[in-house]
Amino acid sequence: MFGLFSRVRGPVVCDDRLSHIAFIMDGNGRWARKRGLPREAGHARGARNLYRVMDACRARNVRIVTVYAFSTENWKRPQKEVDEIMKLLTSYLQSAYEDREKNETHVRVIGDTAALPEETQAMIDRLDRETAQYERVLNIALNYGGRQEIVHAVNTAIAAGKTTLTEQDISDALYTAPLPEPDLIIRTGGEMRLSNYLMWQSAYTELAFTKTLWPDFGAAELDEILKDFYKRHRRFGGL
Ligand code: IPE
Ligand code: IPE
Ligand code: MG
Repeated sequence: MFGLFSRVRGPVVCDDRLSHIAFIMDGNGRWARKRGLPREAGHARGARNLYRVMDACRARNVRIVTVYAFSTENWKRPQKEVDEIMKLLTSYLQSAYEDREKNETHVRVIGDTAALPEETQAMIDRLDRETAQYERVLNIALNYGGRQEIVHAVNTAIAAGKTTLTEQDISDALYTAPLPEPDLIIRTGGEMRLSNYLMWQSAYTELAFTKTLWPDFGAAELDEILKDFYKRHRRFGGL
């Protein structure tokens, strides 16, 4: 009955109270382990699910999506797994480039990209440049750490000649500038932590955690979370 209702009413369409959603795409490894598959198979399914979730966000009028793809701490994983994740990310960037006119989305990578292979950096720059005209944004956090981002922002401001910084100076030098801070962070995979994600930007972000593993996360659950978000009262310290 309810399923029928929500089909009739269609997806939740977001307004300007929700312009930016950030995802922590966690649970790929466990998704694979549950099926007796290697962890890499979970990452492959996770990458595929990102296309699906991006379609769902577009249908719901979400202007900015930021996804946590690889953290500055994820290098601690076995080389084979790191290599496979990098391969999947490169192929995601490649198809984002090929589909740029269909997707009409500005695709940027946030994180310490200087540590990535030069050809990956070139691919990232080209994708960023050739999609920059679109208003809709996808930020892919790759070799990203919230603390690293803050240190980078401070060093950028110092290099520009500043000696005493304001909050605005730091905000302006973040990888995500000039975009607004996320309204909502959704973490799949059941852990209730931020794992060094958007540490500065999340000061007043609403948080949603689900046990669903990332490869299984889809539009129906997104709608549940969005409905819950719209019931919340964001006070930002006021009344
Ligand atoms: C998230 O899934 C993807 C990355 C961190 C790259 P995990 O690989 O962390 O999956 P779990 O948490 O081990 O299930
Ligand atoms: C967070 O997941 C990073 C990404 C989803 C890319 P992790 O699996 O690395 O986080 P922890 O280790 O459980 O905190
Ligand atoms: Mg994990």
